Amino acid sequence: MGIQVIPTTPFSDQKPGTSGLRKAVPVFQKPHYLENFIQAIFDTIGDPQGRPLVLGGDGRYFNAEAIQTILKMAAANGFSRVKVGQNGILSTPAASCVIRKYGAIGGIILSASHNPAGPQGDFGVKFNTANGGPAPEKVTNAIYERSCSLRQYTIYTAPDVSLHTLGEFPLGEMIVEVIDPVADYQALLESLFDFDCIHDAITGGRLSLIFDAMHAVTGPYAHQILETRLGAPRGTVQHGVPLPDFGGGHPDPNLVYAHDLVQQLFGDDPPVFGAASDGDGDRNMILGANCFVTPSDSLAILAANATLVPGYKEGLAGIARSMPTSQAADRVAATLGIDCYETPTGWKFFGNLLDAGKATLCGEESFGTGSNHVREKDGLWAVLFWLNILAIKQQSVADIVQSHWRTYGRNYYSRHDYEGIDSDRAHTLMTQLEQKLPQMVGQSFGAYTVAIADNFSYTDPVDHSVSTQQGLRLIFDDGSRIVYRLSGTGTQGSTLRVYLERFEPNPHHQHLDAQVALADLIELANQVANIQGLTGRDRPTVIT
Ligand code: G6P
Ligand code: ZN
Repeated sequence: MGIQVIPTTPFSDQKPGTSGLRKAVPVFQKPHYLENFIQAIFDTIGDPQGRPLVLGGDGRYFNAEAIQTILKMAAANGFSRVKVGQNGILSTPAASCVIRKYGAIGGIILSASHNPAGPQGDFGVKFNTANGGPAPEKVTNAIYERSCSLRQYTIYTAPDVSLHTLGEFPLGEMIVEVIDPVADYQALLESLFDFDCIHDAITGGRLSLIFDAMHAVTGPYAHQILETRLGAPRGTVQHGVPLPDFGGGHPDPNLVYAHDLVQQLFGDDPPVFGAASDGDGDRNMILGANCFVTPSDSLAILAANATLVPGYKEGLAGIARSMPTSQAADRVAATLGIDCYETPTGWKFFGNLLDAGKATLCGEESFGTGSNHVREKDGLWAVLFWLNILAIKQQSVADIVQSHWRTYGRNYYSRHDYEGIDSDRAHTLMTQLEQKLPQMVGQSFGAYTVAIADNFSYTDPVDHSVSTQQGLRLIFDDGSRIVYRLSGTGTQGSTLRVYLERFEPNPHHQHLDAQVALADLIELANQVANIQGLTGRDRPTVIT
């Protein structure tokens, strides 16, 4: 037993992406691979100054082994305390909550979000800073630079620490504190939402629900919060046992991957409410009986009803949405007389707005919703927000959505994904389209006249940093939009995302299928970018 210094050589591929370092499991299992990256993080943090480190993951394959390695390395690197979730479990939003609550120096979250898991699946390491949010680029760049010059790492040799029992256990000079992964997070949610009101609606039979944890991290959270605390019957939480391979599934809450749940909500005798979350618990999908709520509408509806919920009863400072997210939230912000910020895609762009108190609620079309209570998007938070609204309003989800449209108008919205296209062709498409944009301004295409055509760029209102080339936009004079982006998260070839949006103020025309309502724009989007000609695809692979 004792501290060992292990010589190593750098790996050249440890540059963290948008959500940390994400690789196939066998890559992380290479000798020294995980250790090198963890040492690079520790060297970048510097002296922990007695502040705890938070550690946990989504329970996927290799989670347990990685946690032991990281604990032993923390013990050898001068940490005095690591707060680790029982059995190595912490959802991404729960980790953010614990970091903030205990003034931690930061946290290491082991997850590859919704990517499939298992021996051949993906694994990931994310580092969050003291504000509870993902490390900003200057920190991840510093970690990467350190990883490129690393020659050794230190690790404490000792038997594995049992993480089954709550309590404090010594590891060398360090204390391993095994914490209940749910308790702090539940307390935070209880401070925001009216749990008694939701409890009464559920146990009084007025609010029936199903939650699909997709065999990923939210299982224990949902069992404890929805069933034990809020009184929903056993069986409300489906696929609630986290499995190392997520049961072979793809824990991404959308209409395609959460098909079991969708079938129940659109089947015979559906419950009032249904929801799902992803691998690490930060995404959400909201459904009602025979009703799917788009993430864009969900953000707008939460904002419009926020003052019904205790944690937001004083009103919102502002709303923020990513650029491709529909403008439904902007209409609510305008009515409330508050600002609506339009940021590039990626949760990290909300961090400054939240820290500066400029925005209270944030959302993205990619099934992410959250608020200033943590610095990550938060799946169960969105579920609780909806349950709180439903418990008070005692209406169906569909009624709430439709009455929202009657008041604010409906932003018909859809995303068409062309996955796995050849990267060169994808880039050619974007380049050719961008070159065409300037002369398109003022041109009319059927009912649509182009008002703005540009490549979106964002100046952060807090630190004034500029992010360019964040997506090609065609904005028409009636506010309709076509947006083109290449995905930043795909792994095979390129994924072209085309986002389509049209505003419909007339309540009599708000009940069309989105694909029908957007048919003209879809046709125009294909024509303008010559999608078929350049990609050889005559239809998208996924429509949401
Ligand atoms: C991750 C991020 C989200 C972002 C999404 C975009 O999930 O956490 O904040 O919206 O990626 O993915 P894309 O594939 O469209 O670049
Ligand atoms: Zn996630």
